[in-house]
Amino acid sequence: MTNSEKLIQLNKQVSACSKCALRKNCSRVVFGSGNPEAQIMFIGEAPGKKEDELGIPFVGSTGRILDKMFESIRIKREEVYLTNICKCRPPENRDPLPEEIQECWPWLEKQIAIIKPKIIVTLGKYALNSFLPKAKISEVHGKIITINIPKLGEVKLFPIHHPAAARINRKTRALFEEDFAKIPALLKNKKEQ
Ligand code: URA
Repeated sequence: MTNSEKLIQLNKQVSACSKCALRKNCSRVVFGSGNPEAQIMFIGEAPGKKEDELGIPFVGSTGRILDKMFESIRIKREEVYLTNICKCRPPENRDPLPEEIQECWPWLEKQIAIIKPKIIVTLGKYALNSFLPKAKISEVHGKIITINIPKLGEVKLFPIHHPAAARINRKTRALFEEDFAKIPALLKNKKEQ
């Protein structure tokens, strides 16, 4: 089976999920989008209003910031894979609860196992802390962190700030842009290995 076929199959399973209460209050599951063979995977927090309407991650105002950043490093959205730690929109865009993140984690793990990205870019503290519960984004952003996950083996994380946080704080925006600019070199290094 190709990665694309595996993801289609997994999407069907995720769309039927009702393990936590989020599914009851959202319009649809936002599984993920992009290249099933991507070298780089971006993981956000949870779908917002627009994402919930369209079923695609990062298509609202936060997604536009991300699109600008892709343009700045000459990467196309279609080349990467985008998803969230929670696949369903929390009511009123509230932060996802620990139990919601925990229930959704196995789906993310399966997506990572299929795509096997060379680098996982976590966007914001929720995505970072779902891999490394004690890590502080202010300390680890912009650094490659190699971790071992029982079901996945070695994974390379590249934590950066969340684009929504970058929108509201000028200093965070500067760090976000600085970290984003490092991505092409990381991909190049990984290709050569
Ligand atoms: N849209 C998403 O899909 N994820 C986020 O984290 C924010 C906006």
